[in-house]
Amino acid sequence: MSRTIFVTTALPYANGSFHIGHIMEYIQADIWVRSMRMAGHTVHFVGADDAHGAPIMLKAEAEGISPQELVARYAAERPRYLDGFQIKFDHWHSTDSPENVELSQDIYKSLKAAGFISSRNVEQFYDPVKGMFLPDRYIKGECPTCHAKDQYGDSCESCGAVYAPTDLIEPYSTLTKAKPVLKSSEHFFFKLSDPRCVQFLQEWTTGTNRRGQKRLQSEVLAKTREWLGTSEDGAEANLNDWDISRDAPYFGIEIPDAPGKYFYVWLDAPVGYLASFKAYCNKQGLDFDALLDPNGDTEQVHFIGKDIVYFHALFWPAMLKFSGRKTPDGLHVHGFITVSGEKMSKSRGTGISPIRYLEIGMNPEWLRYYIAAKLNSHVEDIDFNPDDFVARVNSDLIGKYVNIASRAANFISKFFDGQLGYAGDVTALASDISAATEQVRADFEAREYGRAIRRLMAYADTVNQAFDAAQPWVLAKGITPDDERRVQLQDICSRALAGFKALTVMLTPVLPGLTDRVARELFEDESPYRWQDATTLPTRIQKFKHLMQRVEPAMLDELFEPPAPEVPTPGGEAIAEIIDFKDFAKVDLRIARIEACEAVEGSDKLLRLTLDAGEGRLRQVFSGIKSAYKPEDLVGKLTVLVANLAPRKMRFGVSEGMVLAASHADEASHPGIYILEPWPGAQPGMRVS
Ligand code: 2FM
Ligand code: ZN
Repeated sequence: MSRTIFVTTALPYANGSFHIGHIMEYIQADIWVRSMRMAGHTVHFVGADDAHGAPIMLKAEAEGISPQELVARYAAERPRYLDGFQIKFDHWHSTDSPENVELSQDIYKSLKAAGFISSRNVEQFYDPVKGMFLPDRYIKGECPTCHAKDQYGDSCESCGAVYAPTDLIEPYSTLTKAKPVLKSSEHFFFKLSDPRCVQFLQEWTTGTNRRGQKRLQSEVLAKTREWLGTSEDGAEANLNDWDISRDAPYFGIEIPDAPGKYFYVWLDAPVGYLASFKAYCNKQGLDFDALLDPNGDTEQVHFIGKDIVYFHALFWPAMLKFSGRKTPDGLHVHGFITVSGEKMSKSRGTGISPIRYLEIGMNPEWLRYYIAAKLNSHVEDIDFNPDDFVARVNSDLIGKYVNIASRAANFISKFFDGQLGYAGDVTALASDISAATEQVRADFEAREYGRAIRRLMAYADTVNQAFDAAQPWVLAKGITPDDERRVQLQDICSRALAGFKALTVMLTPVLPGLTDRVARELFEDESPYRWQDATTLPTRIQKFKHLMQRVEPAMLDELFEPPAPEVPTPGGEAIAEIIDFKDFAKVDLRIARIEACEAVEGSDKLLRLTLDAGEGRLRQVFSGIKSAYKPEDLVGKLTVLVANLAPRKMRFGVSEGMVLAASHADEASHPGIYILEPWPGAQPGMRVS
């Protein structure tokens, strides 16, 4: 029976380019969608940019552009990646869209009407200079446990302690360096702790969907059991109400009847799934409401990573349920992708840049194949290993799959003018093919892609072995037009090509481009194949054309080689990011006279300078130049002071600015610190620009 399935992938934040983790998720979903369509099901597959939230607002502001412009910039580069890796969404949208505003506000109003919204005052850190409440990641300070400096508002990277931002010692705003103040404001909450909600979630997470399948993978279910208090150890449920509002200034969707309040980005983000689908339906003339009728037959499935399970397994189904909408039928959760066993990190250069992969001319289908071969239906991390990548692609795809056609097709073209012919009974051949294809189809449906690949490669082995055992090249030697061995030769090659066609069908979800060419150009079939096409034995072929290049190991070196730096690296250090004059003008540099100078007791690095910057007062500045200068040599000299740097409290007193000095990035091998001194004639207080 034909099914209708609505499929999404997690919506990427619109403040960064896709990385290999995004591409992996999209490939996983794209393979599933293609395999379900091959079975005749109707699948609607949509994505969107996750546009809202403080980080996007602040990044845009720092660049002097509007958040919409920032979002548009990333939206514009999406197709290069998606088309490049043959990821075929039906529609790509944005959470910053009229559809999303309408749906998010509607859902909120329904939740409110059903008694699931509460409000209360919350006291939070507020940046008085910036005039905004600070998300935890924009607050730093000294760790209350180990006293490491400059730790984030939620946890210490040095000792691992977890705390509230208010526990930090000498907290400061990373936006302005200002000391945050506590300020109270009204917040809205989604009452996850409501007994109706807890009961629904216990049912939804443990129950089965309209097809009688479990909605959650076992690992995901175990997590939700912990959260919901239904785990075997009998721990109590402890669901906190969810804070869904943020105060202006915020880039987001306004909360109805609450001026100056916006939905927290994670409220409207999953609604973006519906918004994208709605925009798609409008474009296609499909009935969105009918398709997502809570009592209808459409299945709703979300592909996501393991880091966002809480949002998708608790908040999202509850939001949908209590606003009277269809709830998801399945969450398809995957692990992360590591590279040579290491977590990705741009700075260490171990990550694979998907765009670089394409730019250096690597075949996207190699990556699709490799990722498919590694994935299963569990929440497991997979590893990209360069040697393994080369071996898999070359030995499986080229050595096993392509090899069948390139060998068998040549005999058929040369001796039989493209005509296939089977000697004797082909029922066994057809039923072998049918059995193998059905197993592979079921593996794809169950998201056991690795198993599907192993199975179909085992099938390729049997095809190759049968071909080799029959030694067609021996038969073909000196063969004459009426030779009876011709029948045998044609039969061997035809059976091999029937196997090759079946393998092509099985690989269609993974290698859409290659299999499309095989279908159209070699077999002159309609493309893409459906599963049942595998058992229709081919009767003719066109001349075999080259199908796929081997991976050259050197390509992997190129993929991993850090791209050449765009600027030379004087002094051992790359030139910093380009800034405009406005940014430079923020730094107030002044000529200052060193009136007094002395070593700081207890410090082997610092000198204490007393400076006159023409302000009618003296300033104290600490500078790490003790190794290079004797205090008495500096007294009376002029230098350059950063005059508007926020005062910094140090162990020995407050430092009111900083003097400029030059040094090599690698101080150990290039020692020396050189303080700046203006040409004669400069006077204390003059601005340097
Ligand atoms: O974690 C993330 O990258 C989020 N932008 C995912 C959102 S998924 C959905 F809820 F929109
Ligand atoms: Zn600490």
